[in-house]
Amino acid sequence: MEILKVNQLSKVYGHGATQIKALDQVSFTVEKGQFVAIVGPSGSGKSTLLHILGGVDTPSFGQVLVDGSDICSLDQTQMAIFRRQQLGLIYQFYNLIPILNVAENITLPLLLDQRKLEQARLQEVVATLGLGERLNHLPNQLSGGQQQRVAIGRALINTPALMLADEPTGNLDSATSKEIIALLKLSNQRYQQTLIIVTHDHEIARQADRIISFGDGRIVRDEAVQP
Ligand SMILES: Nc1ncnc2c1ncn2[C@@H]1O[C@H](COP(=O)(O)OP(=O)(O)O)[C@@H](O)[C@H]1O
Ligand SMILES: [Mg+2]
Repeated sequence: MEILKVNQLSKVYGHGATQIKALDQVSFTVEKGQFVAIVGPSGSGKSTLLHILGGVDTPSFGQVLVDGSDICSLDQTQMAIFRRQQLGLIYQFYNLIPILNVAENITLPLLLDQRKLEQARLQEVVATLGLGERLNHLPNQLSGGQQQRVAIGRALINTPALMLADEPTGNLDSATSKEIIALLKLSNQRYQQTLIIVTHDHEIARQADRIISFGDGRIVRDEAVQP
């Protein structure tokens, strides 16, 4: 089953002489449950793509269909709900709420929808993330790796169909970075979640099912990884 269809997606920043084509007619589809790594040099359009897929930026042209619905046609409220319920977003800077503790930061997406928190699910996420002893800590009482794990917990709590991560281990040491990737893979396999990770790290890319390489706003290579 196709979970994501990106059709002729283009993004142009600026006007006239200073105009930049960050994405230039990008098209691809992703099957449910696939783990895709997106690689490419700095400035090749990877973050722009992830921002548009995550609904935090809009395309200049083209379409993004998630599970058959065009996300670009949602209004702001619908988009916010779609993001909370269908997407797990992990960006490089953790975006934790400083006055909320670990448990509150992780369960925020549920709270915003006035949905019931399943204690068992929270326990599972927290245990997998190794944050059990830190539930009452505030973000500034945590290390960088722990803060990133909280951000991942927040993305995982809903078991979203689509997880988007932009260099999720960019600021972390290699041991923590391995743990985080193992965790995302586990969630990908256990819950058939589709996982799209932008990364510079070849070790991470090699673990994906598929590697899409970007250059100058276009897909320059798209290959299956041999197991
Ligand atoms: N908000 C913006 N305004 C103007 N140009 C931008 C903006 N965001 C990104 N760009 C430009 O778009 C291109 C692609 O950027 P980006 O998607 O961040 O690349 P990557 O994540 O692959 O490093 C770059 O040339 C960048 O300078
Ligand atoms: Mg980037």
